Amino acid sequence: MQDLPSDRDALQALLDFHVEAGVDLALDETPHNRFAEPKPEPAQAKAPALKASPASAPSPPRALPKAAASAPEEVAGMAREQARQAQSLEELEAILAGFDGCALKFSAKNLAFADGNPEGRVMLVGEAPGADEDRIGKPFMGRSGQLLDRMLATIGLDRSQVYVANIVPWRPPGNRTPTPQEIAICKPFIARQIELASPEFLLCLGGPAAQNLLGIKDGILRTRGRWFGYKTEDGREVKALPTLHPAYLLRQPLQKRLGWRDFQALRRALDGRE
Ligand code: URA
Repeated sequence: MQDLPSDRDALQALLDFHVEAGVDLALDETPHNRFAEPKPEPAQAKAPALKASPASAPSPPRALPKAAASAPEEVAGMAREQARQAQSLEELEAILAGFDGCALKFSAKNLAFADGNPEGRVMLVGEAPGADEDRIGKPFMGRSGQLLDRMLATIGLDRSQVYVANIVPWRPPGNRTPTPQEIAICKPFIARQIELASPEFLLCLGGPAAQNLLGIKDGILRTRGRWFGYKTEDGREVKALPTLHPAYLLRQPLQKRLGWRDFQALRRALDGRE
């Protein structure tokens, strides 16, 4: 780091510039030229059978491999093929951890694959990890997650009874919305994750999760609170309910009553009353 300005104001201005540009997390002490030609990597090891420990072993930043720079359709095809190979959630997590097709992996600190109980009757799917989730390596760990936990508690549920994931498992830099290409590349993995977890009910948290999983075009305020059918590749249908994302509810607290209604609908469905 030889070229840093020495006076305090200039350093502060440089830091402010980075924060405004979305660089709000230090990944490494030294900069990396990610446009440099990647070194050929050794053939990928077969996915380990045991659950990887994403939070304890963050991968060091690497040059962007070829896969992440290939055409999105080609990468989505590779993702589909690899996701299909997983016969358990542990295998899927290990395959995803070794998948180099999504460039978000190389700016993220950790893979935030899932939290909660995969045996639960309910699976909740959000958009993408934020800073807290990226640091810890699990979905919904920050303020949105705390609100989500309070909402679950109103219907007698907690994370030991539900399974939580995101449509994109790596944090987009600066918490930007994932691009359609990033979502398309990650979609086979979340689709397989739903299929393997095989929940009875799927709660889609926010517009991107609802639109991408249920193929609906309307915005979340029009679709929330209505039951849809989510079809798995193996032909099962899961009852799916789009609802407002907790991050939106933190910004628009008056809308919490709509979220509350949706959670009540889920409670009724769980009790066989809907
Ligand atoms: N928002 C999401 O959509 N997912 C998380 O894991 C955290 C915040």
